[in-house]
Amino acid sequence: MTIRFDGKTAIITGAGRGLGRSHALALANLGANVVVNDLGADVDGTGGSSDAANEVVAEIKAAGGNAIANGSSVTDQAGVDNLVKQSLDAFGQIDILINNAGILRDRTFHKVSWEDFYAVLDVHLLGTIRVTHAVWPLMREQKYGRVIVTSSQNGTYGNFGQSAYATAKMGVIGFMNALRIEGGRNNLHINTLVPVATSRMTEGTIIATEEDAKILTPEAVAQGALFLVSEDAPNGAILNAGGGSYSRSYVPETKGVYLGDSELTPDAVAANWDAISEDSHLEVLEDGPAQFTKFLEMARGTRK
Ligand code: NAI
Repeated sequence: MTIRFDGKTAIITGAGRGLGRSHALALANLGANVVVNDLGADVDGTGGSSDAANEVVAEIKAAGGNAIANGSSVTDQAGVDNLVKQSLDAFGQIDILINNAGILRDRTFHKVSWEDFYAVLDVHLLGTIRVTHAVWPLMREQKYGRVIVTSSQNGTYGNFGQSAYATAKMGVIGFMNALRIEGGRNNLHINTLVPVATSRMTEGTIIATEEDAKILTPEAVAQGALFLVSEDAPNGAILNAGGGSYSRSYVPETKGVYLGDSELTPDAVAANWDAISEDSHLEVLEDGPAQFTKFLEMARGTRK
């Protein structure tokens, strides 16, 4: 199996620099028509210029690939509609969407303004939903679509000063979980990418040295992204990718304890906390309703 994207069209949001640029170059290199979306914003989401997107398009064309630039913000519905129209006018179809655009406005929760909190949700969470909502019906109609949502380890595991960012980045995973189930029957696959890479967004963070930066290249992450939008992509997976290492995250739960034979009180839950938390037999449930079934089976004593 050799992964290629000939004849496929991919939209990548926030592709003017960093990870998005790297995804765009890699997809074009393997034959995809690429729509390079980027507002050209500063890291906090302010400002804007089409230069970044245009430069990536020029780079792709210079290497013999097909690409167009789009300067819409993922927070602007009219701009997103135009992104879809421009993609269809240029290439006739949309097969792949990589939701990648992002901003940072880090503040501890007691200091963050409502405006900053909302701005982060608007780009990462609502922006992802807005663009996906615009292409999903087209993909459904053609019975083919591959979508990535970009999350973060600071969402899946948490980080100081990033309540808005963490909320948005876990939000996209919930969004994926639902669309995984809705889209599967029409050959729409949606997956989550959790990258680790040097970019302007990670300047001054844990990536401390030049040596670290050389290890954590966006190109290493792009290989994982390309697998997640390939024909044989999984559906509903969370792939962590960085520096040439790849791992998968799950949302497991403990086996659990049935306490219904005794009186149900907060003290009973407290007294059994260690058993409830016992994590040597973690379970990954298929979907939300599976947990209803699990607890009914535990109460009835029928769970295997
Ligand atoms: P970056 O700052 O280099 O690139 C983000 C791009 O998004 C910029 O080109 C910016 O102009 C664009 N953008 C911002 N707001 C936009 C909007 N409203 N509409 C369209 N484009 C917009 O950052 P980086 O590191 O490449 O991040 C890419 C994605 O990966 C983000 O979603 C980020 O949260 C996520 N991520 C990155 C990690 C890393 O290690 N670099 C770690 C975890 C997640």
